[in-house]
Amino acid sequence: MSAENIDQLIEEAKAFTPSSKEDLEHYRLRFLGKKGVLTDLFAKMKEVAPEQRKAYGQQVNELKLAAEEKLALFREQFEQDGDEGRAQQDLSLPADPMATGTFHPLTLVRRQIIKIFGRIGFNVSEGPEIEDDWHNFSALNFPPEHPARDMQDTFFIDLHADPERYQGPLALRTHTSSIQVRVMENQAPPIRTICPGRVYRNEAISARAHCFFHQVEGFYIDEGVSFADLKQTLLYFAQEMFGAETKIRLRPSYFPFTEPSAEMDISCSICKGKGCNVCKYSGWVEILGCGMIDPSVLENCKIDADKYSGFAFGMGIERITMLKYAIKDLRIFSENDVRFLDQFKGLG
Ligand code: DAH
Repeated sequence: MSAENIDQLIEEAKAFTPSSKEDLEHYRLRFLGKKGVLTDLFAKMKEVAPEQRKAYGQQVNELKLAAEEKLALFREQFEQDGDEGRAQQDLSLPADPMATGTFHPLTLVRRQIIKIFGRIGFNVSEGPEIEDDWHNFSALNFPPEHPARDMQDTFFIDLHADPERYQGPLALRTHTSSIQVRVMENQAPPIRTICPGRVYRNEAISARAHCFFHQVEGFYIDEGVSFADLKQTLLYFAQEMFGAETKIRLRPSYFPFTEPSAEMDISCSICKGKGCNVCKYSGWVEILGCGMIDPSVLENCKIDADKYSGFAFGMGIERITMLKYAIKDLRIFSENDVRFLDQFKGLG
């Protein structure tokens, strides 16, 4: 390498001003790194003619000193620019933003449902995720041959449990209605409660179904509870959750544990009832099942069905969340993708 070339490098090294720590690191690697310019120049010392070697050595040393000096100077400066240095300089500067976590959208919606029902006097109850046949099926009037008990739908568990607490074969609960039974067995009316929880079904995973998901069950038992109470409660919920303009519609349906039973639709929260692919251009989307608790279910739980009546409803938290935030694929809830979760920053 010619003397002019080394002079040029010295000039470059001296003129350098980094704009960031990364910049400075590039500089260090270029000049002082193991594979940097100086290593190269020192290695080439052998090839220099003996009479020029001294001058060459001096030039290379000058380059080395210039690079080292620059590096030391800016290293110190960047360190001072850190929190401490900055605090000494200007206390009015805003602090670096802190990366915070987010609530999972299902948590946000679960908490919102709890809050909405809390305002009209519903408390929160919970129950076990591993359930017995009695609480998940029998007490709720599912006949022994009901398809919901089928191996296709239910994850049965091969385990012998405390016979005081569990009756019959064990399974992962397929719905939160099992909590209804547990609460009714342990409390006397009036009961007004909602029961959030995770449920499990032996289903193929797709955009619309998963082997685990979340539900909220709600029920109210007292003297003289009527279908009108149910309807008004659900209208209140729908409008609190999806906006005051939301309409509801009840369609007759069937569940073993309610009589009469209904499914409730809300006016599509995405297109406001105009018609879109979420509501399949009907303007309505189904959000829950409900009905008057069948008197035989009350009797199964030792509640006097001549004196008391009650309503119940159950909804999927994923479904409500998908409608609220226009989410198209259920699987995204359990993928832990921060690009998805970050979009809920600051909510809740
Ligand atoms: N347990 C039902 C299900 O998982 C949902 C349901 C329907 C719950 C009607 C209720 C009800 O309390 O009254 O599909």
